[in-house]
Amino acid sequence: MQHNAIIQRAEQVLFPNYARFPLVVTKGRDCRLFDPSGRSYLDFTAGVAVTSLGHCHPKVTLAIQKQAQRLVHSSNLFFTEPQIELAEALTAASFTGRVFFCNSGAEANEAAIKLVRKSMGPNRYEIITATQSFHGRTLTTMAATGQDKVKEGFNPLPPGFVHVPYGDVAAVEAAITPQTAAVMVEPIQGEGGVNIPPAGYLTDLREVCNREELLLIFDEVQTGVGRCGSLFAYEHEGVVPDAMTLAKGLGNGFPIGALVARDEIARALGPGTHGSTFGGNPLACAAALAVLETLREDPWILGNTQRMGARIMLGLETLAATQPVIREVRGRGLLIGCELSIPARPVAEACLADGLLLALAGPHVVRFMPPLTVREADVDEALTIFTRALASAGAQVPA
Ligand SMILES: Cc1ncc(COP(=O)(O)O)c(C=O)c1O
Repeated sequence: MQHNAIIQRAEQVLFPNYARFPLVVTKGRDCRLFDPSGRSYLDFTAGVAVTSLGHCHPKVTLAIQKQAQRLVHSSNLFFTEPQIELAEALTAASFTGRVFFCNSGAEANEAAIKLVRKSMGPNRYEIITATQSFHGRTLTTMAATGQDKVKEGFNPLPPGFVHVPYGDVAAVEAAITPQTAAVMVEPIQGEGGVNIPPAGYLTDLREVCNREELLLIFDEVQTGVGRCGSLFAYEHEGVVPDAMTLAKGLGNGFPIGALVARDEIARALGPGTHGSTFGGNPLACAAALAVLETLREDPWILGNTQRMGARIMLGLETLAATQPVIREVRGRGLLIGCELSIPARPVAEACLADGLLLALAGPHVVRFMPPLTVREADVDEALTIFTRALASAGAQVPA
């Protein structure tokens, strides 16, 4: 009753822009979320690939508490040490360059797009992105996004984006014009359905960008900070971009976004060209530093991401042998999509009723993305619940 009353209040005062599941959460710990009655749910959404170390990770919480006692905000009129330390840690862990901090993935991509425009001069402004990509909800990152459904009703969008099929390097080459300035892709597409590009895709993109003198930008907002089993997903092919964007898992739930770019390019954004009042906020940077330190000091976490990812994939593939509604299982690390021949939402709703939280990636894909610290027993419990949900949904809607 208390639960439904809360949802009814929300329906009176909040924008109706989210297709939320009917669940109120009040508390989180590790891999679990709790509703107001104290019932626990196995959280395989991790806040949409955000709480990668688990809910309320003690080290991150302590870092936020300590920083909150010293300084919460001072703006970018001044220097603050957590911001500098985090930029040092990020560039040390990725590639030599500079960092701009903001508060979300869309803002990080917006900054990357502005950086392309400013650093490549007035005549080269076009950015090639992929169909089925997702880069954010601001007008410009929506224009960059290669999915028509997110753009409906928002025209006119800023010009300067060309979409080509994901995974197709020849299509990128064919789309290059004298105005082309950059190629921007997700190393693995998350929101677009958990799409894995063919092996060598990133390497070939790097070669094309080198040859054509284009910037190569990786949107690692969803794939970065360990989600795919390496600190950054581009490491899988050993390809280094000119710039990358991060958000989601970087703060383990504390809002933060970052654009990391090679030094020569980053210098194009001189004083007054870009900014954010909250960007690089000391609390956010303290949280993100604790995340990076935890991942560096405990290599078990990335190993576990690979092992548990393989366990989920195997479990789903085994299930596919007897459950024909599973069309395909794809993923890397703990970013896994299970494509169904039936609508995914009722399956996720059945899982929720049974105590497992799953996100969607399009109308037919269920996404498994638990914390990177998830244990075998939790994976097995999730697979059992999913199997039950699929059996009931599959029985209702023939494949
Ligand atoms: C690859 C990618 N880029 C950008 C974004 C936008 O991030 P945010 O919601 O933090 O603005 C998302 C969000 O799902 C994403 O998956």
